[in-house]
Amino acid sequence: MTHSRKRAIEAGQVWLVGAGPGDPDLLTRQAERLIRSADVIFHDALIGPDILELASAGADMVCVGKRSGRHSVGQDQINDRLLAAAMAGRRVVRLKGGDPSVFGRSTEEMEHLRRHGVDVRVAAGVTTACAVAARAGVSLTLRGQARRLQFVTAHARAGDELDLDWRALADPGATLAIYMGRGAAPEIARRLLGEGMAAETPVLVAVNATLAEERLVSTRLDLLPLSVRALAEDAPTLILIGAAVGRPAVDQRATEAGRVVAEQS
Ligand SMILES: C[S@@+](CC[C@H](N)C(=O)[O-])C[C@H]1O[C@@H](n2cnc3c(N)ncnc32)[C@H](O)[C@@H]1O
Repeated sequence: MTHSRKRAIEAGQVWLVGAGPGDPDLLTRQAERLIRSADVIFHDALIGPDILELASAGADMVCVGKRSGRHSVGQDQINDRLLAAAMAGRRVVRLKGGDPSVFGRSTEEMEHLRRHGVDVRVAAGVTTACAVAARAGVSLTLRGQARRLQFVTAHARAGDELDLDWRALADPGATLAIYMGRGAAPEIARRLLGEGMAAETPVLVAVNATLAEERLVSTRLDLLPLSVRALAEDAPTLILIGAAVGRPAVDQRATEAGRVVAEQS
């Protein structure tokens, strides 16, 4: 399939494209080429203007994003709009934050399109957990200490408890990446501590990672609820937990002073 790298979008084809966490520098060359060649782009709410600007002047830009707590287009409606655009013979990009295969509901969209005979392809993107590790100068894995990665979403309907396997998540030999976990941070800390995870376990909270408004907060598990209190509730937030994230490989603070706003001593 390597030759498909250079192919333009065909009429009636749909590409699910990963846009990365925000900084246009983290777009793949494939993603940029597809964005430029689309004649309609259905994009998430979190995709920034610097990336959307890459689209051709004549492209239709349709925001189908979901932001927590706000009215948004339902998944069935997104599926139908993608299908209608493909059936009309348009060159369609479905632009998603990060990587389409990570909490991106890409399976629903692909299955719906394929059921109707539409050719649908995927262009990988940089998922937020990897971008945050890079920005903080830490590794997600650590030889002998963090041999496993666990990616979870901690998004629950208002009033519902999170349905997660807390015992598995409290594994001290793993790094835990929590997407959509800002609102549930107090429950996350309480449940992990309750499963015996050490209070001093390093935690890295990233808000608006890779964007101009980026904030990276280095803290510890027992202080997580306190640490998130000062952070905007509405901004995209990723939480990394585990020994590996407390071990910066490169001290970027020296060159980007003020970016780390709270330090574990
Ligand atoms: C629906 S999930 C999609 C994840 C995406 N597919 C990925 O691979 O990163 C959206 C969540 O990703 C995280 N996220 C996305 N962009 C982010 C950013 N720039 N900074 C921090 N977290 C981000 C937040 O937890 C946000 O609520």
